[in-house]
Amino acid sequence: MERSEINEIIDRAKSFLEKRQFFLPAFAHWSLEDWVANVTDVRGIVEQQLGWDITDFGSGDFASVGLFLFTLRNGTDANLTTPNAKVYAEKILIVEPGQVTPTHFHFLKMEDIINRGGGVLEVQLWNSTDSNGVDTESSVEVVCDGILKRLPAGGILPLNPGDSVCLPPRLLHKFWGKPGTGTVLVGEVSKVNDDRTDNFFPEGAGRFPVIEENVPPLHLLIPDYATYLSR
Ligand SMILES: [Fe+2]
Repeated sequence: MERSEINEIIDRAKSFLEKRQFFLPAFAHWSLEDWVANVTDVRGIVEQQLGWDITDFGSGDFASVGLFLFTLRNGTDANLTTPNAKVYAEKILIVEPGQVTPTHFHFLKMEDIINRGGGVLEVQLWNSTDSNGVDTESSVEVVCDGILKRLPAGGILPLNPGDSVCLPPRLLHKFWGKPGTGTVLVGEVSKVNDDRTDNFFPEGAGRFPVIEENVPPLHLLIPDYATYLSR
């Protein structure tokens, strides 16, 4: 992705979130100069991978295969075995009609995907095989707002505004905004997660974009921290 495209997506997301009265923490608005000025205080943000996260999953076509995310809170995998440590995470996502997040599962993360309003989010589900493949035969069971639902392999679960689904580790999922409905504001409440290691895409998509630096960044993305804050 070109950095100019990422900057435009951030601009559009800021307007959309403001219209929906969803506010991001102060560091979301920092310039590169602000990051450098605060560099001694940001260890927690960097370690927990908080912040802007925009990806085309390596597709080169964000509008068709892509996702906007902002990680609001998180911990590290080490927290899962540390008494009294933070074991939860929260993200806000924006999904456009027809914009696909490719099939994937998480090795450790259990996540609730919540339609926070807008259009309809469609979630397609499969069990995974022991060799991390797609099980195209066995039916899938998920809990939606306390109610157990059973779908055939590859069944599509529509989430209307207010609805959510709990996705356990290793359950394959793919989602998109239902065409003909509006942009969807999606919440994610989950176990802590490390996006560098916890995502598996059976079709081989990449979790983070390859960025062509054609203009300066408007805001740093999570994968930028290693580059820009170690200089
Ligand atoms: Fe996921």
